[in-house]
Amino acid sequence: MFIDRVLSGMRPTGALHIGHFHGALKNWVKLQDEHPCFFFVADWHALTTHYESPEVLEDSVWDMLVDWFAAGIDPQKATVFIQSRVPEHAELFLLLAMATPLGWLERVPTYKDQIEKLKERDLSTYGFLGYPLMQAADILIYRANMVPVGEDQVPHIEMTREIARRFNHLFGSEPGFEEKANAAVRKLGAKRAKLYKELRAKYQEHGEQDALDAARALLAEAQSLSMGDRERLFGYLEGARRVILTEPAALLTEVPRLPGLDGQKMSKSGGNAVLMREEPKVLAQKIRTMPTDPARVRRTDPGDPEKCPVWQLHLVYSNDDTRAWVQKGCRSAGIGCLECKQPVIDAMVREQEPWRNRAQPYLDDPSLLRSIVADGCDRARAAAQETMRDVREAMGLAYS
Ligand code: TRP
Ligand code: SF4
Repeated sequence: MFIDRVLSGMRPTGALHIGHFHGALKNWVKLQDEHPCFFFVADWHALTTHYESPEVLEDSVWDMLVDWFAAGIDPQKATVFIQSRVPEHAELFLLLAMATPLGWLERVPTYKDQIEKLKERDLSTYGFLGYPLMQAADILIYRANMVPVGEDQVPHIEMTREIARRFNHLFGSEPGFEEKANAAVRKLGAKRAKLYKELRAKYQEHGEQDALDAARALLAEAQSLSMGDRERLFGYLEGARRVILTEPAALLTEVPRLPGLDGQKMSKSGGNAVLMREEPKVLAQKIRTMPTDPARVRRTDPGDPEKCPVWQLHLVYSNDDTRAWVQKGCRSAGIGCLECKQPVIDAMVREQEPWRNRAQPYLDDPSLLRSIVADGCDRARAAAQETMRDVREAMGLAYS
């Protein structure tokens, strides 16, 4: 089964900051024009670490969704939904759990780190250990082939691939598979059948990825195949098994280094964030009070942009001319820091204007947001149920 589908999720953290935009949302907005996309609010994931404060969940979910649409996520193009509204995620999570070795979860690099880092919370829970497996279920249930994530999430995608491989290995066998596959090959017609066999051999004997891609393209175009045969032939390419769950690839998001107001990584809890929809006055105040190169004690002291977090913002927000003006003015004490910050403030306010405009209808009419998301949940659920039919059948649960 080969589907072109992007999937990504975000934990609900309430109103988003510009780091979320430049680190993830901007990329999602681009992807929705290039592929069918599914984007979801990972509300169960939030509970794996914040199970003691469920009261903040609901507002956080809606506030975050407003910012997704403000950023330009278009519900006409992408399917936007909430994880817990598609309970099939939990069913797949449960079924995958049956055959997932404990060691795979204990070895996830973030596991011990996070327990150390979030010491004030008790994370020695079953839910927290299992959350990468829940993430695997989130991805596999849509048979997504691409998952845009940041670097920190790559080990989770790797584990998801292993989970899919193991599942197909354990549950992808079908009585008489080889014979059925061979019969399906013949249905391709002589010319295509020959090409298919050659490409399959190249992939299986020499691991040629190009051959696998070409064979998949051949199958995608073959009109004469039934759904079942097509699936069999996709599976047969990779072995003598059916491919029930698709191995996804991480789509590494290139993240510009956007510092927080104090030069550290921008985060809500760090208190150093600029929100996506910040009052222009508050925004200006936040930038004006940002620390700069400590060497510039007086206006007449020259500075070094490399030692100043404001420069990092110029790298995101300014053109070459402005950057040259900063470099020269800072090093020669020709400009003051407030002067230097103004173009950043102006560019940020300009950037936020369309976000504000797009958010307004949702703020005016919260039921609009509810109905768009309800529609997304329905669509996501239909896709999830399709996979679950095959999963249940493969695991012996398709009682008729
Ligand atoms: N774990 C991700 C994070 O903390 C969020 C997430 C949950 C996710 N499920 C996902 C991301 C599936 C991509 C695909 O950022
Ligand atoms: Fe930073 Fe600009 Fe001040 Fe130089 S002039 S220290 S780059 S704010």
